Amino acid sequence: MHKPVRNAWKFCRRHLSVGTQPKPVLSTKETLTDLFGRYHNYLRISLTERCNLRCQYCMPEEGVKLTEKPHLLTTDEVIKIARLFVKEGVDKIRLTGGEPTVRKDLPDIIYNLKQIEGLKTVAMTTNGLVLTKQLVALQKAGLDIVNVSLDTLVAEKYEKITRRKGWNRVMMGIDLALQLGYNPVKVNCVVMKDFNENEIVDFVRLTKDRSVDVRFIEYMPFTGNKWEVNKLIPYKSMLGMIQAEWPDFQPLKNAPNDTSKAWKVPGYKGQVGFITSMSEHFCGTCNRVRITADGNLKVCLFGNTEISLRDAIRSKCSDDDLTALISAAVKRKKKQHAETRKTPFMPNLTYHNSILSHLYSQKPFQYTQRMYCTKLTHTDDQGKVAMVDTGEKPETTRIAVATATVQLNSEITLLIRENLIKKGDVLTIAEIAGIMSAKNTSSIVPLCHNIPLSHVQVKAKLKEETCEVHITSSVRCDGKTGVEMEALVAASTAALTVYDMCKAVSKGIVIKEVKLLSKSGGKSGDYHAPEEIHVRDFNRKPTRNQWLPFVGPV
Ligand code: GTP
Ligand code: 5AD
Ligand code: SF4
Repeated sequence: MHKPVRNAWKFCRRHLSVGTQPKPVLSTKETLTDLFGRYHNYLRISLTERCNLRCQYCMPEEGVKLTEKPHLLTTDEVIKIARLFVKEGVDKIRLTGGEPTVRKDLPDIIYNLKQIEGLKTVAMTTNGLVLTKQLVALQKAGLDIVNVSLDTLVAEKYEKITRRKGWNRVMMGIDLALQLGYNPVKVNCVVMKDFNENEIVDFVRLTKDRSVDVRFIEYMPFTGNKWEVNKLIPYKSMLGMIQAEWPDFQPLKNAPNDTSKAWKVPGYKGQVGFITSMSEHFCGTCNRVRITADGNLKVCLFGNTEISLRDAIRSKCSDDDLTALISAAVKRKKKQHAETRKTPFMPNLTYHNSILSHLYSQKPFQYTQRMYCTKLTHTDDQGKVAMVDTGEKPETTRIAVATATVQLNSEITLLIRENLIKKGDVLTIAEIAGIMSAKNTSSIVPLCHNIPLSHVQVKAKLKEETCEVHITSSVRCDGKTGVEMEALVAASTAALTVYDMCKAVSKGIVIKEVKLLSKSGGKSGDYHAPEEIHVRDFNRKPTRNQWLPFVGPV
């Protein structure tokens, strides 16, 4: 790995290039192109969850629960990930947070990013609070673009919305950026009803003599931010307010992947933009992927975490495997994360589904099955394989439920999660194997009767936190004898199938805890395994992703 150079930015001139760099391999664009033809050449890396402000719409007063330092990406890991993405075609990286300037190694990170051949632009989004102290050094390290967040032009209101002092410093930071030649400096202003809508015109006036690009952002009501949902002012209303003051306010051409719609007051030095995430989403041209501070790859701002590149790197995955993981995540990106919902404050508003329900946690095999198998009758509501239930006589029904656990290692866990095991989709095939074996129990276990089964269901679930596959089989018949052996055979065979499909990666897989969970019907009465067997799996601590605090849109 190319080692990042510590503190080298202190001695360098801007855009200094290192002669020993290997020539970049030309990217085919395949890895970063999704199923809808969107090519992702823009990577946003969140460097920290910490922030020196507490914006009302982003963080609670007391801050958010922070990831412990060992779980955050190190400088070297940030650079390694950036290198991988640039090799696949990323040419712009934006550093975000929390607040990126609170990270001490920021100049080092910028300097080392700038050494990556093929990377054209290193940008940063900041709240601007410490720009007067840091920007000269950051520019020296190679920072190309700076965007500054500022929601008000009134110092007291700044203190209200950010819960901190500092408006003067931010204004000085913006002016310093302009003096240092950043052109334009983008100023992000989240517009909120009854807070700063009456300042829209003043913000536009800021563009008269300054090369700033003021971008009005539609407030996004993320789950977890305490600000009320009806704070949204849609773009069309903002436009109306500006046109009332400047009737000749005119639209400009936008670049294909711009998130903002550009406008300008004729004759003014700067310009204005609207980021219409809520009223007119721009998913169709989205070219962004994101890395969170703890190393998760997110293919969409509104989606859940996709994969932990940090874990993959720390498990010593090869660069090829890392690239395959990235590619698989990109291929799972949805066409758009929105559906039209009527809301009390804005009929016909295109409302982001994920804001309402955070529901994008599908595993890859479920997704593809749902896409291609919806017309089959032998599938359950998840699109997964299931037998058709033929039972008609409930009074003679016998049901048995059995479980098995397969202990894996972290590499296999990761490969299963990303559906990258070479033999195929492990969990689905294990489920099918379990069903087939239940039907053949009498030919495997000598004293078993050949019982016509009315229903077999096998579920194989990956438990990432313990690196296990948990299998549950449930078998039902309407007959004279019970089905506990059928259930146990189903669970065992599904477990054996997991072993068989993964044994090329490691032979250290252990099949354990094959047991009957319950059995009902029949002369010998019902049986239920002791309580701890049932509840143990459901009592595990949730993984961090489930607790993940919301820290602004990165
Ligand atoms: P440029 O590279 O200058 O276009 O910056 P940017 O607008 O991508 O980045 P910035 O960090 O300044 O973000 C400004 C606003 O755009 C923020 O409110 C972000 O939440 C929003 N934004 C950034 N990326 C996305 C995205 O992929 N989808 C949506 N819906 N909004 C985004
Ligand atoms: N809605 C809209 N924009 C937001 N930002 C943070 N939270 C929200 C939200 N709920 C903005 C910040 C910053 C940018 C990265 O995201 O103000 O400018
Ligand atoms: Fe910090 Fe940005 Fe969140 Fe404000 S919006 S608290 S500046 S991360």
